[in-house]
Amino acid sequence: MKKILVTGGCGYIGSHTIVDLIENGFDVISIDDQSRSTRYLLDGIEKMTGKKVKNYKVDLKDYNDTRAVFQENEDISGIIHFAAYKAVGESVEEPLMYYENNLFSLINLLKCVDEFHVPHFVFSSSCTVYGSPDTIPVTEESPIKKAESPYGSTKQMGEEIITNVVKAADTKAILLRYFNPVGAHPSILIGELPLGKPANLVPAITQAAIGKIPQLTVFGTDYPTRDGSNIRDYIHVSDIAHAHTLAIQYLLAEKNKTNCDIFNLGTGNGVTVLEAIKAFEEVSGQKLNYKVGPRRPGDVVAIYANNNYARTALGWDIKYDLKEMMRTAWAWEVKVKQDEEIIKSQKFQYN
Ligand code: WQD
Repeated sequence: MKKILVTGGCGYIGSHTIVDLIENGFDVISIDDQSRSTRYLLDGIEKMTGKKVKNYKVDLKDYNDTRAVFQENEDISGIIHFAAYKAVGESVEEPLMYYENNLFSLINLLKCVDEFHVPHFVFSSSCTVYGSPDTIPVTEESPIKKAESPYGSTKQMGEEIITNVVKAADTKAILLRYFNPVGAHPSILIGELPLGKPANLVPAITQAAIGKIPQLTVFGTDYPTRDGSNIRDYIHVSDIAHAHTLAIQYLLAEKNKTNCDIFNLGTGNGVTVLEAIKAFEEVSGQKLNYKVGPRRPGDVVAIYANNNYARTALGWDIKYDLKEMMRTAWAWEVKVKQDEEIIKSQKFQYN
């Protein structure tokens, strides 16, 4: 059974990917310092798969602690690296914290990849590397434009570091550029646990609907789009997760075209903010309390994916539509409210 190391395994996309890897016959370990997560999602994975995933509570910025995990697990076939800070707004306020955390972690990992000859490395990247695209949908060849935030520039730098490191190594890498991951696993045993006030649209919608925040603010409806609100490519987190399993299988089968292949992970459908709200209202059966506010600085008017390469080369199929994204997001919000005390007791720290 091939062993995969998932960093950030206690997080949103990491936990969903662990489930998919286990369901596809992989043995999985996690490194997650739980500074922005707890074991709640690992418990959900155990309920779903019967597997107790071992998590090393290690800060990847600590090289010696990180290296010790590799010494204990000499049989790692591949790494999927999720662990990073990802809040656009916070990165503008705390750029150094973002560069230090996201880049030092990556560099420490890559040093271990080199020393322990880990053959495969999959990196969690983002459509944010495209900045504000001149033409949409964007393909993997679309130009990389100046990042709109320090968070985005850590993704661009991360891609560049990996591309150059694997050129000189015998490790093969894949960069997966996510569009907007939303929703929760259909079991409703794992999902997104945003810390503090949610920055992203869908958790903001569900938290406004359940009353955790008083009202949703739509950041601008005066954009040059069909209804004036921004266009994005929302994609179910379980579809994103399965693409990671396919990426690992693609590397294990030595199908890679270069040392560092790149794939867009989006549905290929552009959806406006107001359309997303309407889809939520239809599946939840309730009117959403929202107001229109000023534009959010740094927001891209419109972006969605050309996903042909992932579909053909990885054999990736999209299983979940917008309604299912909203249905599972809402069901998860209701579940989190029921488990509020348990989650609080597991000590979310926001440091
Ligand atoms: C989507 C749309 C907002 C909240 C970022 C990162 C990306 C990824 C996902 C990490 C925009 C509007 C939002 C709200 C709103 N990051 N909105 N009211 O900015 O496309 O992408 O998050 O995983 O890398 O770049 O996602 O969900 O924040 O915003 O109107 O309360 O929803 O203006 O148009 P974004 P988002």
